[in-house]
Amino acid sequence: MSEKNDNIVILGVESSCDDTSAAIIRDGYLLSNVISSQAVHSAYGGVVPELASRAHQQNIIPTIHQAIKVAGIDKHDISAIAYTRGPGLIGSLLVGTSFAKGFSLALNVPLIEVNHLQGHVLAHFIKEKGVEPHVPEFPFLCLLVSGGNSQIILVKSPYDMEIIGQTIDDAAGEAFDKCAKVIGGPYPGGPYVDKLAKEGNAKAFDFAKPHIPGYDYSFSGLKTSFLYQVRDFVKEDPDFIEKNRADLCASFQRAVVETLMNKLWHAAKDLKINRVAVAGGVSANSGVRGAFQDYSNKYGWEIFLPKFSYTTDNAAMIATAGMFKYMKGEFDGIDSVPYSRV
Ligand code: KG4
Repeated sequence: MSEKNDNIVILGVESSCDDTSAAIIRDGYLLSNVISSQAVHSAYGGVVPELASRAHQQNIIPTIHQAIKVAGIDKHDISAIAYTRGPGLIGSLLVGTSFAKGFSLALNVPLIEVNHLQGHVLAHFIKEKGVEPHVPEFPFLCLLVSGGNSQIILVKSPYDMEIIGQTIDDAAGEAFDKCAKVIGGPYPGGPYVDKLAKEGNAKAFDFAKPHIPGYDYSFSGLKTSFLYQVRDFVKEDPDFIEKNRADLCASFQRAVVETLMNKLWHAAKDLKINRVAVAGGVSANSGVRGAFQDYSNKYGWEIFLPKFSYTTDNAAMIATAGMFKYMKGEFDGIDSVPYSRV
């Protein structure tokens, strides 16, 4: 970002799912990134939308307050407010959107709407003082893998992104969550499966992998294959899960990672792009990160792996995306409404 962003302070607000987050960036550099997670959902094995909305309502003011405090700024220093407009849970989005609108009116500063998925991609451009930036040049490919999305995105500029492949059913994160559920693990299941997979044999079991044309993904068949195999083994041995937990996780993770990487490799080859990034909650996965490293060694990819704190939902990425829009003068009206789907 150029000198044009001098003394520009952006407040980012994220509330698309079950994390309430606020971040401040000044002159392009991150000053604070506060995330209030919602433990209430773990008892239900998934995010309960109504509970998420209520928790956002409780968390939003303290979270914003904390972000301003940690950043060491005054609220009147804020130049613009960037907020996640969608996609996400509509009730959750309404809380962040309403807050952003109210605060922008009170401070008399412009509003900037941010697409949550573009925010994840632009997490690679979050700048921190004292940290050497490693940002991809345009164009690059980004594998966006989260609880709600699995996409291959051709990123031509911060303002121009094309989804060239996406899941036709479940997302990769959802598949991890369901795998964990089948073997009695917690929600969210991704970190649990990842941890156990490190101790298991990834070749112990084979699960059906999808054959979908183009760069699209499908994870529902893999999920069903996992469920049915486990169910059949348990019929023969009631202690099967207990005895094979780590191998099941390792084998399932291998299937997900191979599926993700196969399509990504084809896209990179066809488009002749060797700058490849990964973003979203599942980008924290050790199997995904290991595969990126392997492909980098084998195919000469220049890879971009986000810091762990920027893999899951956060407002630093929303503020960063907002900064790009600020530079272009792309502001939002007070009448814009959140959207649950793209
Ligand atoms: O991006 P995110 O925080 O939320 C949205 O979906 O927007 O992603 C959450 C997803 C969950 O499905 C979670 O199980 C998965 O990311 N996840 C992981 C790991 N950490 C989080 N999946 C696999 N391995 C991980 N280490």
